[in-house]
Amino acid sequence: MLADQRCQGDGRLPASSGVRARSKSAAYRVATGNGVLAGRFTGSGERRMDRGAAMKVVLRINGDDYARQVEPDLTLLSFLRDVLGLTGTKWGCLTGDCGACTVLVDGEPVVSCLQLACQVQGRQVTTIEGLETSRGLDEVQAAFVSNGATQCGFCTPGMVMSVEALLRANPSPDETEIREALAGNLCRCTGYSKIVDAVLQAASDRRSAADRSSADVS
Ligand code: FES
Ligand code: FES
Repeated sequence: MLADQRCQGDGRLPASSGVRARSKSAAYRVATGNGVLAGRFTGSGERRMDRGAAMKVVLRINGDDYARQVEPDLTLLSFLRDVLGLTGTKWGCLTGDCGACTVLVDGEPVVSCLQLACQVQGRQVTTIEGLETSRGLDEVQAAFVSNGATQCGFCTPGMVMSVEALLRANPSPDETEIREALAGNLCRCTGYSKIVDAVLQAASDRRSAADRSSADVS
């Protein structure tokens, strides 16, 4: 695969060659149907390939531009965590199944483990770190805390980002709509009921804040 081809397509990393992450920075060399695949495991356990020259990307994240040299197959998740140190976005399954790595790209929820960093140039990326306001937590974050919707917390950043996308599109979701919007975000702790309660409260709080803001203007 040529370096410039890795910034096209659906953003998925190459299909598994049967390699499994074992230890930090371990080198590997595996025979595949197309020759020998060599590379190393990163500190976060993500599989990375030693293939091709670095390329410059400029990404707008939480309102700021970041220009960096990256390998063409670097995922957005790894760019956020390993390059920028924005570790609020969680590293989970790396297969698009758990939703822990969800961020917003132009307001839409995206699993950052399946998106290449170079594919989001010129687009607006929002992470959990970008939600905090000058007053502290935003309505969704605060409602998760006050409703006990977070236990171990591992799923919470991805959940919150999916809820943010939902409430921007639908300020008054019902329970069915909430559960549909969160179908791609898995939680092993809470049983989801408190998460639904938190979303209903966040929606209500956000509508009330909008009403107060309108009254202040008029
Ligand atoms: S880490 Fe991306 S969906 Fe699980
Ligand atoms: S709070 Fe632990 S996985 Fe959701």
